[in-house]
Amino acid sequence: MAFPPVREELRGLEPYGAPQLDVPVQLNVNENPYAPSDAVVADVAEAVAGATRTLNRYPDREFLELRTALAAYLGHGVRAEQVWAANGSNEVMLQLLQAFGGPGRTALSFAPTYSMYPEYARDSNTEWVAGRREEDFALDLDAARALVEGRRPSVVLLPSPNNPTGTALPPEAVSMLCEAVGDDGIVVVDEAYGEFRRAGTPSALELLPTHRNLVVSRTMSKAFALAGARLGYLAADPAICDAIRVVRLPYHLSAVTQAVALTALRHAPELLGNVDLLRQERDRTVAWLRAQGLQVAESDANFCLFGTYPDRHAVWQGLLDRGVLVRETGPEGWLRVSIGTPEEMTAFQHALTSVTEEGVR
Ligand SMILES: Cc1ncc(COP(=O)(O)O)c(C=O)c1O
Repeated sequence: MAFPPVREELRGLEPYGAPQLDVPVQLNVNENPYAPSDAVVADVAEAVAGATRTLNRYPDREFLELRTALAAYLGHGVRAEQVWAANGSNEVMLQLLQAFGGPGRTALSFAPTYSMYPEYARDSNTEWVAGRREEDFALDLDAARALVEGRRPSVVLLPSPNNPTGTALPPEAVSMLCEAVGDDGIVVVDEAYGEFRRAGTPSALELLPTHRNLVVSRTMSKAFALAGARLGYLAADPAICDAIRVVRLPYHLSAVTQAVALTALRHAPELLGNVDLLRQERDRTVAWLRAQGLQVAESDANFCLFGTYPDRHAVWQGLLDRGVLVRETGPEGWLRVSIGTPEEMTAFQHALTSVTEEGVR
């Protein structure tokens, strides 16, 4: 056997991840461009120092204080025993696949969607099924129901807003899919970008009391501007949290991570303070791109998908040559740009204008 003797289905694969390039304007991984203030830095440093005093001990395995604080942040009557957290929502969702997927079981979503989903399925030996979204990236509800009824998935992954398109799901779609799946599976509404929704788009948290198979996943990486801390979490029926506790590694959430996340939650109003700015900047960016004659998907997130280009790689490269990094992802011909500061978005507009003027399309 060829060395290393890795699982057959992993042989020759590259790890997932966008290029981490050191360029002046980084708009490629949907981060929040606003760094924490000096006041937040000082409080986090103090909390980490406090946690350091007991680093000879393992952390609280059940992280009850953090679960209580996350439940309070979520509101909607969510209780601590309905909350679970891990190192980023990627880990939360992998744990869900470990507990609810597995050999002989199926995970299902609708493409184009977040490219890590098939990897959670592959890594947990779960069969992967992807239905198609419509032209405008919305779900065709009848087709979605038919696919769920035909494939009987154990896990349905529904990002809202969707990455890379920015499309939010109406609550009727979530309810319909929860009912179609029934007690045979769980429906995970991945609200990684939930805080950036436009007014009038409700959170799936409202539906938790109605559907016991519903899981709402969130992260502190985006709106909270805390991607480097790695904290993702979910709200669900306590029985679902208990099932994850069986597969999680002991002490998976370090004392330092717990201290940082708790401190960040105390500063929630400040850390979330730029969400409105980012929403406005997104709407301005969408309008500007449309004014250039481009197609732009409706976005409820902190990024937008635009195109289409016969040679999107050439446009991506042209932007990079001008110091602006966007993401070459999604359906053929489209590019995704994360929303940065007004200065960064001006730099993006100048770079794209210059690339287009050179005739690159
Ligand atoms: C739709 C979606 N879900 C989940 C994540 C994972 O984020 P994290 O692991 O940082 O919480 C991302 C990250 O980009 C995402 O786009």
